[in-house]
Amino acid sequence: MAFHSKYVCQQCGYESTGWLGKCPNCGTWNSLVETVVETQVQNSKSKVKSFGTKAGSTSVKLSEIKQTTTKRISTKISELDRVLGGGLVPGQVVLIAGEPGIGKSTLLTQLANNLGDVLYVCGEESATQVKVRADRLGVKKSNIELLENTDVDSVIEVIENPAAVIVDSIQTMTTGNLTGMAGSVGQVRECAFRLLKVVKEKNIPLFLVGHVTKEGTVAGPAVLAHIVDTVLWFEGDKTLTTRILRAVKNRFGPTDEVGVFEMEDKGLIPVANIDKAFLEKNKNVSGSVVTSIMQGTRPLLVEIQALVVPTKLAIPRRIAQGIDSRRLELLLAVLTRRCGLPLYDFDVFVNVAGGLRVTEPASDLAVALAIASAYFDKPVSVKTIAIGEVGLLGEIREVVAQEKRVKEARRLGFSFAITSKEFKFVNLAVRGIR
Ligand code: TYD
Ligand code: MG
Repeated sequence: MAFHSKYVCQQCGYESTGWLGKCPNCGTWNSLVETVVETQVQNSKSKVKSFGTKAGSTSVKLSEIKQTTTKRISTKISELDRVLGGGLVPGQVVLIAGEPGIGKSTLLTQLANNLGDVLYVCGEESATQVKVRADRLGVKKSNIELLENTDVDSVIEVIENPAAVIVDSIQTMTTGNLTGMAGSVGQVRECAFRLLKVVKEKNIPLFLVGHVTKEGTVAGPAVLAHIVDTVLWFEGDKTLTTRILRAVKNRFGPTDEVGVFEMEDKGLIPVANIDKAFLEKNKNVSGSVVTSIMQGTRPLLVEIQALVVPTKLAIPRRIAQGIDSRRLELLLAVLTRRCGLPLYDFDVFVNVAGGLRVTEPASDLAVALAIASAYFDKPVSVKTIAIGEVGLLGEIREVVAQEKRVKEARRLGFSFAITSKEFKFVNLAVRGIR
């Protein structure tokens, strides 16, 4: 068997021996990815293929498949277990993605310490640097095997029978069969694929660290997401201590569960009681409204902040952090048209406190009210919570688990909830602020 590489268009399958910026066949830009080609030494027999049944390709009745309960391995980190759906499954391949410095290596060092005999491939840092981190985390006697190597084929040779394999990070791994640089789509995909093949055969859990680029995609992006079993995103504001671990894909568990951690001197500490984790001390200032978002089965209170200032620009600025900027545009249009706020003369900034990303429309009402509160410079009471989706007609729509969210907020000391129940239209709710 011999190896060589060629460049294949990911859109139409066009093949080229060298890299091209644009596919000459379908015209897509940047779609050619270096791919390993195995050339079989052909013998005359293998040329003739029969179309009969191949061994192993017989179908099985669904009812005849024996039921097996998946044995879960606890990571002994409660919030990580929760996100995984109760623990690791043998042979599970997990991608942990996040910005540099968010705490991926910290989490995996803690995990390695709990699992015992783990192979930790450090491509990013030297073994000494990993040791410094481990010391800081209080990892004393441990069976973690460190391997400073970035050649994926030599790494694979070393994998015998560890409790888990950790590759930190997949972007540093290369194979000699490809000429591309470490971190290129071709290398990332091929290296992940080779590691995956080995751990699946041996039933060993594998963790891949993946760095996220500024645009928020894992380098070598969708490529990795669909070959691994589980994708976990690590997010949060690096200047604060709260971190969120979110399952965005999970073949062995729910995808809407999140884990919450506090980054402390001695590493990441699981936070079991998350309801107020993202709520800073309440202040009686205009432009701040609390809302409740669902994190899996748990409601979580978050503070939406807005700032509205007269603009000096022809096209006013709309800056959104933590919410979708198009959603913000839409809410501004509703506030302008339905509530009569002349926001076209103002720059508007919206931020979700704590560095959280909110995608649920249930936060619409809180965003709208925070903007209105900032515009009128009237604070909304710290005991008030706003939950609701805002429609284009200016109506407030009920959201899923509304009752549950309100109940939870009551329990935490909020005395007034603005929802579709109290107000049918957003202009009435805005008038309430004035
Ligand atoms: P790290 O796990 O190296 O991030 P990543 O692998 O995602 O790039 O951790 C980054 C930050 O965490 C670093 O700035 C130091 C901080 N940190 C703590 O606050 N406490 C700790 O116990 C450790 C190990 C790190
Ligand atoms: Mg790291």
